[in-house]
Amino acid sequence: MRTDTGQVFHLKDYAPTDFVVDRIDLTFELDPAETKVISRVLMKRRAGVSRSAPLVFDGDELTLDSVQLDGNDIDPADFDVTPENLTIRNLPAEATFEITVNTTIAPEANTSLMGLYRTGNIYCTQCEAEGFRRITYFYDRPDVLAVYTVTIISRKDDARLMLSNGNYLGGGNYDEGRHFAAWFDPHPKPSYLFALVAGDLGVIEDTFTTMDEREVALRIYVEHGKEKRAAYAMDALKRSMRWDEETFGRAYDLDIFMIVAVSDFNMGAMENKGLNVFNDKYVLADPETATDADYANIEAIIAHEYFHNWTGNRITCRDWFQLCLKEGLTVFRDHAFSADQRSAPVKRIAEIRLLKAHQFPEDAGPLAHPVRPESYREINNFYTATVYEKGSEVVGMLRTIVGADAFRQGMDLYFERHDGQAVTIEDFLACFAEASSRDLMQFSLWYSQAGTPSVSVSTSWDEAKSTFTVTLEQSLQPTPGQPRKEVMHIPLAYGLLLEDGSEHKGSPSGAGASSAAAGVLHLTRRKQSVTFADVASRPVLSINRGFSAPVNLAMEQSSADLAHIARHDADGVARWQAINDHATRHLVAAARLARDGRPLPASDELCAILTAVAGDESLEPAFRAQALTLPAESDIAREIGSNIEPDSIRAAREAVIADVARAGRELFSTLANQAPGGPYSPDAGSAGLRALAGIALSYASIAEASPARAAAVFAAADNMTVMAQALQVLAHHFPGTGAATDALAAFEARFADNPLVIDKWFAIQAMAPGAATLDRVRELMTSRHFDRMNPNRVRALIGSFSAGNPTGFNRADGAGFRLLADEVTAIDKRNPQLAARLLTAMRSWRSLEPVRQEEARLALVAILGAAQLSTDVSDIVQRTLA
Ligand code: ARG
Ligand code: ZN
Repeated sequence: MRTDTGQVFHLKDYAPTDFVVDRIDLTFELDPAETKVISRVLMKRRAGVSRSAPLVFDGDELTLDSVQLDGNDIDPADFDVTPENLTIRNLPAEATFEITVNTTIAPEANTSLMGLYRTGNIYCTQCEAEGFRRITYFYDRPDVLAVYTVTIISRKDDARLMLSNGNYLGGGNYDEGRHFAAWFDPHPKPSYLFALVAGDLGVIEDTFTTMDEREVALRIYVEHGKEKRAAYAMDALKRSMRWDEETFGRAYDLDIFMIVAVSDFNMGAMENKGLNVFNDKYVLADPETATDADYANIEAIIAHEYFHNWTGNRITCRDWFQLCLKEGLTVFRDHAFSADQRSAPVKRIAEIRLLKAHQFPEDAGPLAHPVRPESYREINNFYTATVYEKGSEVVGMLRTIVGADAFRQGMDLYFERHDGQAVTIEDFLACFAEASSRDLMQFSLWYSQAGTPSVSVSTSWDEAKSTFTVTLEQSLQPTPGQPRKEVMHIPLAYGLLLEDGSEHKGSPSGAGASSAAAGVLHLTRRKQSVTFADVASRPVLSINRGFSAPVNLAMEQSSADLAHIARHDADGVARWQAINDHATRHLVAAARLARDGRPLPASDELCAILTAVAGDESLEPAFRAQALTLPAESDIAREIGSNIEPDSIRAAREAVIADVARAGRELFSTLANQAPGGPYSPDAGSAGLRALAGIALSYASIAEASPARAAAVFAAADNMTVMAQALQVLAHHFPGTGAATDALAAFEARFADNPLVIDKWFAIQAMAPGAATLDRVRELMTSRHFDRMNPNRVRALIGSFSAGNPTGFNRADGAGFRLLADEVTAIDKRNPQLAARLLTAMRSWRSLEPVRQEEARLALVAILGAAQLSTDVSDIVQRTLA
């Protein structure tokens, strides 16, 4: 484990390398305990660099066997080596030379899952961000692009299959009992895109013909026996390839595209050139074991990694500060893909929910950072919701501002101008400034200023003059390292709804009204007003439609106005926003009263809105399900903002849910029985029906105060979606009943051999609300299904508990915080990245009430007191406490 050195890296310090690399030839002699790596690097001194400048390569926990210059051992006086660096002096001034680095590494001892490691019986690599330096000494940074040739040698009984990036060159017998395979990737790439996979795997194969009529072999490798469960991933891959051609004109560029599913993986997946490596959770699916949400995630992540081939691989990042250049843009692309494959408004609603649940709290707490950070101690801690999701929102705003046509032209220009380069956000934005002839300087603040802006909106209608005025004012709170903020460019999509539900036509006048004709107000000053003429009756303003800007809106809008939008807005997302705002407001009020021990308000208005939507057959079922899903306890806590007491929030929310359940009892009991007939299909329409039936099951069960209905659904379920919905109703609303206990036991027995399904069993139990869950989590940690070394198991049990169970985790006695602190400290010794990621569940500790806050602080301090923290964990804990 790399322990903390306190070193901080700064964007402003960027400098190119002193030497330029042309080609790299890697040879691996695989062995679990002693893998030999030979790296031959063809390079030369960069023009203008002093001849006394040494070559400094990166390493991480490496042992060097030998190093040669043009085939001859280098004089020990001419090089220094530490586990972190290889420094070579007196290299040629102008000529091209070859450096050979020989290292030995131990994949089986690598528990960090970075570099070359073992998962099951296979060898696999993860190099992003800085894992290549755990394989050999090299310039392990994204701006060094080289052409790779890779030769893999192994015992035939150890690794039947040997894969790397690019096209297959050839292979055969090597010596007694060993064989080799060679791969060549013609596209220059940074080291973080290198990959090697070797072992015995099953495969499914297909082909794809590109728009320029080249045939590409497609292969998905999985554990033997799981081949059938990769079919949906293959289908999603082919749809992704076609979509990128049709939507962005981008075709695939090698003869083969491979995906490998592995069971030990720190993140979701990795876009290595031509050889994507996936967490198997995002590849494997069949109706019996995967939910509709799993299918949707697989589709999105397969697309995401595939789209990286152009946004990330062909054009990569100059340095890791530019991570959002590839991640924000690629998330934007995968969102657009999913929206096209499914229902666009329903997809957008899900995105807004996730953004608010994960990114907004990050931006409001101690870990807040700009979409493009300016400094870091550990880059792995910046694969965040801010870089990914807010990064995608920023690209979406860019599209709103320049318009769809200029956006596409800007993308074309970006691909054309920067193909084969490692670039910056400035390079990216310049393409859109040029394509749209706009100045994007103010807009670019979205990349550099952290925090969620607030926009307050006030309106006034002048009956005598028939005018309607909208006044907007923005503010942005200080965030760590950024005490003062500048005024941003905030694009707000809007509409004026008239009494009969139709929309007022006509553009306003005033500052920011420039492209209001297109239905967008551009807030570019601290405060500005626009006025609409010929507004004969008082309109209702629908603003930030579709969540066109990721901001917090403060607007006094009556329940009647929200109900009007919910009924009439032409934009489905805006209708959901109005319903959700109404529900949030009601729940926040109820939680405040519950906190003071006062009687809760009547929920009649909310019940009327929700039951109307639930029964409206003209609406998509998936939309109705979204509307019926009330803001989560964490959403209510975020709105309240400070001095949070989770138990009263839960009590208030449960009471409101009970009101809704009673109000719609008969309707819910009808809807609960309306699952799609026939064999399971993962398509969006069927999934929407199941989502509606699932939420209706939950309300109906609550109204009936009986687990009988859910137990019957559980017993009759013929797919995992319905089964998991019923299990959750039983475990969360009827804990301890025979029905719940029996269902949990039946589920465990049936899926004992399928860890990915057992993860659902872990997660449902870990998220059962209330203080008692902690003991159950401890018990589950000792179960035979749990494995502290496997990231998916840890996230399913401990991650779900700490990030998905507000009342259980934030127990007033601090036991939840201590459990997390103990686990983080233990896991850190073997897998720092996983430990640091878990710890982010503590990021909102300062918004808790004082007693819990103090318990949280003590737990954080206890982590800090542990000997030998990794840079990953020490960075998170120090920033969280700062
Ligand atoms: N680039 C990967 C993606 O598509 C994420 C890999 C991050 N890995 C890491 N160890 N930080 O999102
Ligand atoms: Zn990505």
